[in-house]
Amino acid sequence: GRVAVLMGGRSSEREVSLSSGQGVLEALRSCGVDARAFDPGRQSLGELESGGFDRAFNMLHGLGGEDGTIQGVLEWLRIPYTGSGVLASALAIDKDATCRLWHGEGLPVPDGVRTNDPREAASIIARLGASLIVKPDHDGSSFGVVKLKRADEASLAKAIRESCGGHDSVRVERLIHGREFTAAVLGEGGSARMLPIVEIIAPGGDYNSVNKYQGSEVKYACPAGLPENTAQAIERDVLRAYRVIGARGWGRIDFMMEEGAWRLLEINTNPGMTPHSLVPMAARAAGISYEELVMQVAAAARL
Ligand code: DAL
Ligand code: MG
Repeated sequence: GRVAVLMGGRSSEREVSLSSGQGVLEALRSCGVDARAFDPGRQSLGELESGGFDRAFNMLHGLGGEDGTIQGVLEWLRIPYTGSGVLASALAIDKDATCRLWHGEGLPVPDGVRTNDPREAASIIARLGASLIVKPDHDGSSFGVVKLKRADEASLAKAIRESCGGHDSVRVERLIHGREFTAAVLGEGGSARMLPIVEIIAPGGDYNSVNKYQGSEVKYACPAGLPENTAQAIERDVLRAYRVIGARGWGRIDFMMEEGAWRLLEINTNPGMTPHSLVPMAARAAGISYEELVMQVAAAARL
């Protein structure tokens, strides 16, 4: 059958998505699949309906493509697609909703609040302290993220205003000083499994939208050098966090460690597949090639 690789789109992560999509497209073709690029940012969805596709590999990142919107379109068109469904995607794109849900299940997350109002800056500092991170609720690849090591009312108000630009709201969190990790998950429900954890070692502890995709100053360790029992306890939390969201197919959960305690930050339901991305790295450490990973995710496509 013919596979549409959805890539590009309209979000701020368009370029990242084109890079992810190109990798997936080449992998599918090298496995003999009739794969075609489809860019819903540039092409009409009517072409998706009439294109004779019997599944879609969704490599869109961010708004429109990773938030339940395109998933709803694919449901409507009856085209099976990779990754999470409408509800899980909509939940996962929203960092504040995700953290609240996880917190309600007893999973560790950083303290934080949702706001769209710069006038709340002083009360947020009173509640969370002055070491803060401001994240757009509906973006990825660290776009729009502002770190404030010593926030005052004015700097936090400015960060909320700027980070909110074009978005509904931001999540302001206590900034975690510690080691940064990510864990890829494949599968669904009770059969979901975690790939080896990746540690991200960024210069000055700052893994940002620039060094995420360029240059080589970021180092990685996979499998991460965590004690066996710690890694096992993290795995239990990661799999539970994945299931609580209702994610399926695949996903990647980012977390940090602060003095031996881990905090889950977010889940990405269409994780990056660029040459710098971490799910392919984790797969490789588990003996799964990029092509095998792509074929496995594609095979799990469904409505
Ligand atoms: N949002 C980017 C693509 C990632 O999580 O890999
Ligand atoms: Mg993300």
